[in-house]
Amino acid sequence: MKIESLEELTGNSGGEKRVHIFNAGPAALPLSVLREVQEHFLNFHGSGMSITEISHRSTLFEEVINDAIDRMRRLLKLSDDHHVLFIQGGASLQFCMIPLNLALPGRPVTYLNTGVWSTKAMKEARIQGKDVRVIPTSEDTDFSCLPTDFRVDEQSSYLHFTSNNTIQGTQWHQFPDGKGVPLISDMSSDFMSRPIDVRPFGLIYAGAQKNLGPSGVAVVIIREDMLKRVPDALPTMLKYTTYRDNKSLFNTPPTFAIYIIGLVLRWLEETIGGLREMEKINRQKASLIYEVIDRSEIYQGAAELNSRSMMNVTFRLPDQRLEQRFLAEAGRNGFEGLRGHRSVGGCRASLYNAVTADSVRNLVAFMREFEEKL
Ligand SMILES: Cc1ncc(COP(=O)(O)O)c(C=O)c1O
Repeated sequence: MKIESLEELTGNSGGEKRVHIFNAGPAALPLSVLREVQEHFLNFHGSGMSITEISHRSTLFEEVINDAIDRMRRLLKLSDDHHVLFIQGGASLQFCMIPLNLALPGRPVTYLNTGVWSTKAMKEARIQGKDVRVIPTSEDTDFSCLPTDFRVDEQSSYLHFTSNNTIQGTQWHQFPDGKGVPLISDMSSDFMSRPIDVRPFGLIYAGAQKNLGPSGVAVVIIREDMLKRVPDALPTMLKYTTYRDNKSLFNTPPTFAIYIIGLVLRWLEETIGGLREMEKINRQKASLIYEVIDRSEIYQGAAELNSRSMMNVTFRLPDQRLEQRFLAEAGRNGFEGLRGHRSVGGCRASLYNAVTADSVRNLVAFMREFEEKL
């Protein structure tokens, strides 16, 4: 397949050279959102200032942050029991804040170890000297599948798991049952990609840079009862209660990132039509690529069938030389971000919400043609 004009291919106009973005994060954002940001960048709502120049204490910014929170509440059907917080430091700071704030004295914390990110989360709890119980999964097969049967100590302060393993390409299709122990989930790479029942979750967190907006902020959804655990003696900026009490405005928040999150959530609510619709689209996109993999003699899926992710499709080619050739040709043809994470190698197509079905269809055509040419 020869791509003559990327503008034509991606449906862009106005001479922008855009490629098909399959990055794992920071990742694709809806083009309509980027256009809106561009259009209003110099003069936000008639203020004569850019969104990056207005005060975080202004009524204008208050409207921006409140609108983003309201939209998230509606999309996830949150009751008053849950708070939506914006915290800097990405998902990685949450690895540290969770045990600091939510481990109960004298009680263990339990982690399902399903890959690189959950391993990092556990490490932070260990650094703090917590009694960390690890439920091992499939480390012997490079974390290619998720467990179906395990036991959680009912004394645990919480059960932590990663809902979508960005690097390995596995995803929980049915969440683990904590049997009364509050669930805590790192949903960085599948947050807002499907409807969820938030009730069993004491806390959900996600770095914004995959499905929500630019990097620089994590969204935290925390249940009221969990906030009672927060020890008084923690540094102010590391306490969840600081963000709850000050509506995420204790200090200067990442205003630009929050503004874009609000626009992405509006796109999700009004253009896509909500999380159920989003999930349908995401399923269709993922199945297009998995179909190619399953019928192919050269592409081999890295994750086991039942654990396959809708968000990050990981695959390998028979040898590294062919993988390099595939990646180089993909790059020349306008497909960006298909290299697997540096810790595992191989290939990965990240199909977050804003990746269009059109981009996926083009990738599928490219993959087929690459195989046929061999
Ligand atoms: C599942 C998951 N958790 C955590 C992180 C780390 O996020 P951050 O860079 O925002 O700290 C990532 C980043 O890719 C991720 O995919």
